[in-house]
This record gives sequence, C-alpha cells and structure tokens, in this order.
Amino acid sequence: MSDTQFAPLQNDRFLRALLRQPVDRTPMWMMRQAGRYLPEYRATRAKAGSFMDLCRNTELACEVTLQPLRRYPLDAAILFSDILTIPDAMGLGLYFEEGEGPKFKKPVRTSADIADLEVVNTAKDLSYVTDAVTTIRRELNGRVPLIGFSGSPWTLATYMIEGGSSRDFARAKEMLYNRPQDMHQLLTVLADSVIDYLNAQIRAGAQAVQIFDTWGGALSHSAYKEFSLDYMARIVQGLIKEQDGRQVPVILFTKGGGQWLEAMADTGATALGLDWTTDISKARARVGDKVALQGNMDPSILLASPERIREEVKTILAAYGKGSGHIFNLGHGVTPKVDPTHAGAMFDAVVEFSGQYHGG
Ligand code: CP3
Repeated sequence: MSDTQFAPLQNDRFLRALLRQPVDRTPMWMMRQAGRYLPEYRATRAKAGSFMDLCRNTELACEVTLQPLRRYPLDAAILFSDILTIPDAMGLGLYFEEGEGPKFKKPVRTSADIADLEVVNTAKDLSYVTDAVTTIRRELNGRVPLIGFSGSPWTLATYMIEGGSSRDFARAKEMLYNRPQDMHQLLTVLADSVIDYLNAQIRAGAQAVQIFDTWGGALSHSAYKEFSLDYMARIVQGLIKEQDGRQVPVILFTKGGGQWLEAMADTGATALGLDWTTDISKARARVGDKVALQGNMDPSILLASPERIREEVKTILAAYGKGSGHIFNLGHGVTPKVDPTHAGAMFDAVVEFSGQYHGG
C-alpha cells in the first residue's frame, strides 16, 4: 500500500513532535481512546457481538476508531484491535470472559508447547487487522495520522503462559528463572511475529507504531533487559524505517519503566511512553535529544473535577517545558468509568495551554 493511494496528511503535529520538529502546540491522543467509557463505543460493541467479533469486523472496527475523533480535537487515531491477536493467530484460542478480561483455551506451559509455536504469518492469519488499518487510513482521509500497535514479546508471553491476566505472573516468572532457554525460545518466536505484524501494519497504512510493554515493569532490573528490552530492541531493528519518504516512528511504552529510560532510548526507538510515576521534566533531562516523550497524566485524574484536570494538564505541560518532543497522553489507558466530558476537559486544556511552549 503506498502513501499516494491515501489523501495527503492535513495534521502532522503528532509525527513532527515524535521527530522533535517544531509544532504550533503539543499534539495529543489517549491510550484506549476508543473504548467503554464512550456510550457510542458500547452501542457499536453491542451490535458487533463479542469484543473479538468487533476487532474482526472491518467496518465496525473502523467506526469505533473514528468515534473519539468526532468528540475531541485529537492529533492521532489508533487502530482498534488488541495486543492478543498474535497469540490468538498462533492457535491459543483467545476469548473474553465478561468482567474477567482475556483468557486462552490453550495456554503455553511446557517445552513441547513452545516448540509447537510458529512465527505468525500476518498476511495469512491476521489479514483482518491489516484490512482494518487500510480501511481506517482511507476513512481518516488525511485528517490525522494512524498509529498501529503490538504488545511486547514479554507482555504477550505473560498472557500466553498464565492463560490470561495475572497479579504476580507466578507461572511466567517460574519459567523465566527455572527454564530461561524455554523463555528465550518463546520470546524469539514472539519478537519475529511482532516484526512481521508491525511491518504488515506499516505497509497497510500505519504511519507510526507503538509497542505496549504493559508488564515490563513487573520484572527485576536485570531480567527487564534480558527478557523484555532486548527483544523490543530486536523489533525496532527489524521494522521498516521509512514509508513513502516519511520516517515511521516507533514508540516504546514500558509501564513502570521509568528507571530504564536511558536503556530504552538506546534501542533506536523514536519516542518513549511514560507512565504517571515518572517526572517528565527529569525524564527529558535524562534522555536529552535522543527520543521524544509521550505521556504522562495519571488516568485516575479523569475521575476528578474538570478544574482539577485542567490544573494537572498545566503542571505536565510546564514540567516538559518549552520546545517540541512531547506528545500529551495519559500514563496508561483511560478507564471505563471516566466521564467523556472529563476527557474533553483534558484535551481542551492541552489546546489552550500548550501553545505558549512552542514557537517564539
Ligand atoms: O487504545 C486504543 O483505543 C486501541 C485499542 C486497544 C485495545 N486494547 C482495545 C480493547 C489497545 C491499544 C489495546 C492494547 C492492550 N490489550 C493491552 C496493552 C495496553 C494496556 O492497556 O496496557 C493489553 C494488556 C491488552 C489485553 C486486554 N484486552 C485486556 C487486559 C483487556 C480487558 C480489559 C478490561 O478492562 O476488561 C482487553 C480487552 C479490550 N481491548 C477492550 C478494548 C476497548 C475492552 C473490551 C470490551 O469492549 O469489552
């Protein structure tokens, strides 16, 4: 798929800030911006059936991707899908138990289970995702860029081994410490799958990609590098660098990864996602001009009053300070109980208060 098949991009604030090029105001989007906090999402989801039915329905996946853009002056759209599409395509049988999150019918536990896994063939097994990317990119009509995404190998491995969500990752960590070779074999198959998957999304029309390392922060200092970061570095190296004359930026987001920012910046990623536990001004001083930063408002602030939300937006913008290289976002996904007008107050505040940090 070539850029020339799509309408020219009218708002490149997000892509420019990722490359630390001048912008008129701080660009913004929100993790999980298409989701259950929006009544229009819940209505479309009810029409689709299950969550995975929604992901597999190109037209409806496109519809929910565009819903938050109708409400807010966002600077990016993110593909509506899930990180667990890869293990699903590997044959693990993903399903969602209402109120309990994701589950796998066939978790990966033994060495034989791991030996059976093959690198996913996106064109063959995940064409519903790349079809959604192309459809969304076309429907966006150049309004804002489209972000593709994947889970990190370690984060995907936790779900595959545990068979779903987990509090302590007991099984995954037991494998990591007792059978490191098995764990490395699993992470290698996953990293190669993620490379194929993200490159397919880029070819289909994704203009930037984000790697969600949601559970990297649960690892010890030395295990993080060996079992999460090194595989993300391998992915960054394997991705298409440029599409139709434009760099394709890569955002690395390790939740709880604030202490590893220098090492994350050394992977060659374009930008780092920050959760809310890190001071963004200190993070900026540490990474210098190596990477842009994305974040990092506590999602729970959206449960507070619009006045409180505006104050927090001002604090974060001031903490990053003058100049490009900041993409405003939450430090993790928006939660289902958030009032959509509160998210609106956050975005309005970014528009109102961020201009002073740019130009001049
Ligand atoms: O950001 C976006 O708007 C894009 C869509 C997106 C979803 N999941 C939609 C979704 C993205 C980027 C994800 C990533 C994802 N999925 C992650 C990494 C990011 C993070 O939040 O840490 C993880 C760990 C998953 C796995 C997953 N998918 C879980 C744990 C759940 C259950 C969540 C819950 O609260 O029950 C999902 C389901 C899911 N993925 C929903 C959405 C909108 C809710 C499903 C529904 O409609 O019932």
